Amino acid sequence: MNRRKFLQGAGALGGLMIVKPSVAFSYAANSTVQYALLGCGKRGTSVATSFAKNTQARIVALGDIFPDQLAKGKQHFDEINASLGFPAIDDKMTFHGWEAYKALAANPNVDAVQISTPPFFHVEHMDALTAGGKHVYCEKPVGVDIPQTRRALEIAKRVGNKVSVSVGFQIRSAPPFVEVVKRIHDGQIGKIASLSGHYNAPTATYPERGSMPQDEQRLRNWLWDKTLSGDILLEQNIHVIDVCNWVMQAHPVKATARASRKVLQNFGNINDNYEVIFTYPNGAEFSAPRSSTPPGTSM
Ligand SMILES: NC(=O)c1ccc[n+]([C@@H]2O[C@H](COP(=O)([O-])OP(=O)(O)OC[C@H]3O[C@@H](n4cnc5c(N)ncnc54)[C@H](O)[C@@H]3O)[C@@H](O)[C@H]2O)c1
Repeated sequence: MNRRKFLQGAGALGGLMIVKPSVAFSYAANSTVQYALLGCGKRGTSVATSFAKNTQARIVALGDIFPDQLAKGKQHFDEINASLGFPAIDDKMTFHGWEAYKALAANPNVDAVQISTPPFFHVEHMDALTAGGKHVYCEKPVGVDIPQTRRALEIAKRVGNKVSVSVGFQIRSAPPFVEVVKRIHDGQIGKIASLSGHYNAPTATYPERGSMPQDEQRLRNWLWDKTLSGDILLEQNIHVIDVCNWVMQAHPVKATARASRKVLQNFGNINDNYEVIFTYPNGAEFSAPRSSTPPGTSM
């Protein structure tokens, strides 16, 4: 797969292409995409491995705030590179600490960066990386609140057609969903009066972290932290809301919501149950999942 196909693939994975892949067509065909992963955790490692195995992307650089996570990532991707006939990642291309994203943004040997850090950091990282001329694949959610989301839209305007930016709404590319939504749009179930979306999460397994400073606890357990994750409605269920927006071909104009924390006893401050009713412009209503299950693995 050449750069053109890689970027088309990234767009398909992302569902939301802020900038079209054609922006990068000036790259030489069939050349390798020098790919970096920022945030060497569960999702980042899995998606970057998939890019390495299935596209022309080659993992040449890594960044993470924690040295242990970076070391785990390096070991994993050195093995992946070896299995594909590529050299190990140069130690000079691994960066740890708060400013790892700046080092990737400034690195001339990186073409594209996958942002797989906790949601709170996405927009800051996207801003710096696109300003550094990098193509970006960013995990959902793009931001945790309205100011961050507005900033992402400003970034989209600023980058124009200079680089390609995708956000990880992979469900829009999943064949069963594509077919169902196509049939709905073709009118096969008639006019929609209301939708109800559900997301079933496994029971939470809260990791034992021993004693560590509170900030590190928060960062390593970001999913349970409202500020870092955006809370469960956003972090876990954004895919469900995205599907409803896709089906309705619109965004809600009104939302009525309640939430509370009744079950979770552990570290963190996220809610464990909530309900939201969104009103769409054509009058249809969507009930967001009435979750009473604490989130497990992040979706
Ligand atoms: N699309 C999907 O279906 C899907 C599935 C799972 C997770 N996700 C998303 O992927 C992202 C990552 O989730 P995860 O489950 O891999 O989390 P994780 O905790 O396993 O990994 C996050 C990594 O980022 C690192 N990190 C934290 N703060 C950082 C910073 N400021 N700079 C650099 N590195 C930093 C951590 O050390 C860790 O290695 C989240 O946005 C999550 O919502 C998406």
